Amino acid sequence: MDDLELNPRILAAVRKANLVSFPAILNLSSADVERRTKLSANDVRILLQTISRRVFKNPSATALELYQGTCPKSLRVSSLSTGCEVLDAFLRGGILSPGITEIAGESAAGKTQLCMQLCLSVQRSTVNGGLDGGAVYICTEDVFPSKRLHQLIENFQKRLSATKYHQLKLGDNIFIEHLSERDQLVHCIQYRIPLLLKQSRVKLIVVDSLAALFRCEFSPREAARRARHLQTLGAQLHRLSWLHDVPVVCVNQVTANMSNNSSSHSNQCQLIPALGLAWSNLVQTRLMLGRTNYKLSSFDAAGHQPQPADTERTVPETAGVPVRTMEVVFAPHLPNDTCYFVVEAAGVRGLR
Ligand SMILES: Nc1ncnc2c1ncn2[C@@H]1O[C@H](COP(=O)(O)OP(=O)(O)OP(=O)(O)O)[C@@H](O)[C@H]1O
Ligand SMILES: [Mg+2]
Repeated sequence: MDDLELNPRILAAVRKANLVSFPAILNLSSADVERRTKLSANDVRILLQTISRRVFKNPSATALELYQGTCPKSLRVSSLSTGCEVLDAFLRGGILSPGITEIAGESAAGKTQLCMQLCLSVQRSTVNGGLDGGAVYICTEDVFPSKRLHQLIENFQKRLSATKYHQLKLGDNIFIEHLSERDQLVHCIQYRIPLLLKQSRVKLIVVDSLAALFRCEFSPREAARRARHLQTLGAQLHRLSWLHDVPVVCVNQVTANMSNNSSSHSNQCQLIPALGLAWSNLVQTRLMLGRTNYKLSSFDAAGHQPQPADTERTVPETAGVPVRTMEVVFAPHLPNDTCYFVVEAAGVRGLR
């Protein structure tokens, strides 16, 4: 308090009123400060402005500093690799951190597969595209596919030969939480995850999925109440993400948009992410996964040159693997674009 650049008369009045800390003053209204210190409204305004300037240090950076990564740490944005070079190139590095990334899509589109792969990728060192930490996986739908996770772990370890990563026990760094009610999710995000983030080196939070809980509990008539709860939850997730510098990945279901004027297909229903506008506004990057009628073999025959790695992998049993799409619906750093990928035993793999 004493080193504030203020008129000694103001400082003396503040001391006399026994307001000895910044919070003690900032928690009062201007009128209360006036009453307690007997200072004029103008003096109180100067006092509050001086303290606010001292307390709130708004970091800023130039575009060049942001580009070169020399800006203050709180402004720096990193990305988490998806574990596939092609998808990383499509997403310009991977999933943004901090921030909320939504992975939406119809059933069996590959949402859970991609999330599990992110839980492995996050454990790699930052040089290799990871964040050098573990993951929390909040599972609200079916039973967590642990068998599939172990299959992915085995394949991931075979595929990536970085020695330090090779020695990691990947399964030990994924904390799985099963929840079946919205209240449990709120409690988990409010109390348990912050504790876990403080105690362990967790660098990724996955919620698979939000829609399951919110769609069950609120009927369409309760849209306003649902929006309020979603906003509170979204704000908490953002807070955790920015405070601990971890990416948050939320899986979302889709809903059919029956509106007749939807683009050119007037009589076709269009799939859009569930949970409405209230949730959309809380999402930083929205990725939409979908299935196509292509199979991996026909996809390659349709003019897409198989790369050496693809040729190696296109063995007869994978020939029937369905090709899926990943669309960037919106993102602060990406154009609206689509790429193709497949889900194989080894995980999610983008097609060039
Ligand atoms: N070991 C595997 N080998 C090849 N493909 C697999 C394997 N395991 C899963 N898949 C594919 O992944 C699909 C399931 O993907 P995923 O569980 O990610 O769907 P989802 O988008 O999460 O669906 P939902 O909304 O129902 O949870 C399966 O239909 C299958 O095609
Ligand atoms: Mg799933």
